[in-house]
Amino acid sequence: MNELDTLVDNAKAAFAQASAPADLENAKAQFLGKSGRITELMKGMAQLSVEEKKSRGAAINVAKQAIEAALNARRQQLADEELNAQLRAEALDVTLPGRRRVGGGLHPVARAQERIEAIFSSMGFDVADGPEIETDWYSFTSLNNPPNHPARSMQDTFYVDMKDEEGLLLNLRPHTSPMQVRYAQAHAKKYAGQAHMPDIRVIAPGRTYRVDSDATHSPMFHQVEGLWIGENVSFKDLKVMYLDFIRAFFETDALKLRFRPSYFPFTEPSAEIDIMFEHGPLAGRWLEVSGSGQVHPQVVRNMGLDPERYIGFAFGSGIDRLAMLRYGVNDLRLFFDGDLRFLSQFQ
Ligand code: PHE
Repeated sequence: MNELDTLVDNAKAAFAQASAPADLENAKAQFLGKSGRITELMKGMAQLSVEEKKSRGAAINVAKQAIEAALNARRQQLADEELNAQLRAEALDVTLPGRRRVGGGLHPVARAQERIEAIFSSMGFDVADGPEIETDWYSFTSLNNPPNHPARSMQDTFYVDMKDEEGLLLNLRPHTSPMQVRYAQAHAKKYAGQAHMPDIRVIAPGRTYRVDSDATHSPMFHQVEGLWIGENVSFKDLKVMYLDFIRAFFETDALKLRFRPSYFPFTEPSAEIDIMFEHGPLAGRWLEVSGSGQVHPQVVRNMGLDPERYIGFAFGSGIDRLAMLRYGVNDLRLFFDGDLRFLSQFQ
């Protein structure tokens, strides 16, 4: 084996030993670099004759090309190895189950509330929101329920250690009825002095509070207030509208409605609204879902309206109660325990 063949073999061996691209480039310098072995051999030709230079030069070139080819082959090999290692590291097991997004969902009471809002919106009602911490006037007095009135005990609530302008403690509203007065006042003000005032048609859903706690009562619960006031709104409108609502809510016409005489200081006459399903597990039993009545003239006055001209009805329904009936839940407390085994059933 001549020395050029040995050189090529040595180069191949050096390249084969290089296990990373940087090592390979170092090895290349030894053979092909400016002061590498090939350059040295070229310089060594200086003393040769022209004839000798020709054959020697050609032989060195063959060796140089062989070394370059070996270098390129090794470069490619290292690049392939690197790519394969990367592919192995990033391997996907397509048989693994996918990662799911954990599904959140609306609380059943929120669902019921959204349903109620959608149904009343479709009947032309505005949806209003109001404070949960109320003044004595809005929660009671404006609703014809003055201090010391025995009807106040029907709505015993919690008080906040803060006083309003009249020096009376603020309360956590025991019902959504304060929103009747708040909304109607703003409406009356907006149209004051104008010949015509559009009817007031609003629902006001939200949280309410009472000193109450058992399977069907919770210290915090949800109501939706409804109010329709105009020049010619009667109890008949209440009945028609409420029946439409309740049938839409439960998605059945096989349902009866009954008005049972009752008492609220802010309505006269007053009635509880009961419903009865004709089919299903609750069939044949009257179920109370709402208080209602014709808005008392004093309340109309407190709204800033003339009770000789304006009349209407109001109702206050339990959203939790409606949700319980719709979803077949028999204990109200389940709604507020936050147990995912219960809640996830509604997603
Ligand atoms: N606010 C009453 C309650 O909470 C319900 C009601 C609302 C009754 C409107 C009549 C009119 O019991």
